[in-house]
Amino acid sequence: MGFSLLILSVAYVLYKYGEAKMVLPIISMYALALYRMLPSLNRILEQYNIICYRQQAIHGVYKDLSHPIQEEGVLELPFKEAIRLKNINFAYKHTHPILQNINLEIKRGQRVAFVGPSGCGKSTLVDIIMGVLYPNAGQIFIDNTPLTSQNIRTWRQKIGYIPQHIYLFDGSVAENVACGSPLDEKRVIEVCKMAHIYDFLCQHSGIETTIGEGGINLSGGQKQRLGIARALYDNPEILVLDEATSALDTPTEAKIMDEIYGVAEDKTLLIIAHRLSTIERCNVKIDLSKPAV
Ligand SMILES: Nc1ncnc2c1ncn2[C@@H]1O[C@H](COP(=O)(O)OP(=O)(O)O)[C@@H](O)[C@H]1O
Ligand SMILES: [Mg+2]
Repeated sequence: MGFSLLILSVAYVLYKYGEAKMVLPIISMYALALYRMLPSLNRILEQYNIICYRQQAIHGVYKDLSHPIQEEGVLELPFKEAIRLKNINFAYKHTHPILQNINLEIKRGQRVAFVGPSGCGKSTLVDIIMGVLYPNAGQIFIDNTPLTSQNIRTWRQKIGYIPQHIYLFDGSVAENVACGSPLDEKRVIEVCKMAHIYDFLCQHSGIETTIGEGGINLSGGQKQRLGIARALYDNPEILVLDEATSALDTPTEAKIMDEIYGVAEDKTLLIIAHRLSTIERCNVKIDLSKPAV
């Protein structure tokens, strides 16, 4: 632009006065200055571009850091009869409602399967039941007590959750399985056997095997089995499996599901799975692809 302006100025002076002798020295000085400034201008533009590009990430982190932390209590919350969902509505963005008017009763000890196509809101619904997400409208009752921020921590402690992607930290299998609870080696071995990972661990250093950051030394199926062992460790009243066995081959999955149905005799079981064989032993199937459940 700068050079075009200079050329245009010379053209204008030539057109107006017939010669450009008087302005040529000044124009040349500007041309030289421009030439010297160009690399710096370039660099400024480049840096400005980078700032614009990275700004989104900074905004994201800033938003998270400035998010108010909700006070959460540990009031007693007995669970003897049922989990009841009343008119639950949920949307991540208010323009795209995910769950609308969900009414549901899950009795203690029931085995419930959530089915429906990918993206229909199965994970979202179990996250709400587990008290990880708060519904936009409606309420959850445990027996007849509403789930509130005052008793939500007690509620979460009753739940063992096995997600599709297990988060593992760089430590031993034992540390990863106990994950914050007091370490009891006998219990770790017990749950590793239930999750059919103990034989594999014995070929290495047993429950002291280190697994690397994010479980880099393990396959997807082995990670899932550790996730299952971790969820069973605290002997939770409720077990939630969100596509927990999707990375396993069918025979291993069948063995683990046998084990899970076995330990879950007296537990409430919530399962999201795509293979029908995984959920055939559930008492209730809830299809979320239908508009109102
Ligand atoms: N954290 C999130 N932010 C915004 N939208 C989300 C988020 N998680 C899921 N969704 C959207 O919500 C819908 C339901 O997701 P999800 O409950 O994970 O489905 P499912 O488990 O049935 O496959 C999807 O359309 C998905 O794009
Ligand atoms: Mg899901």
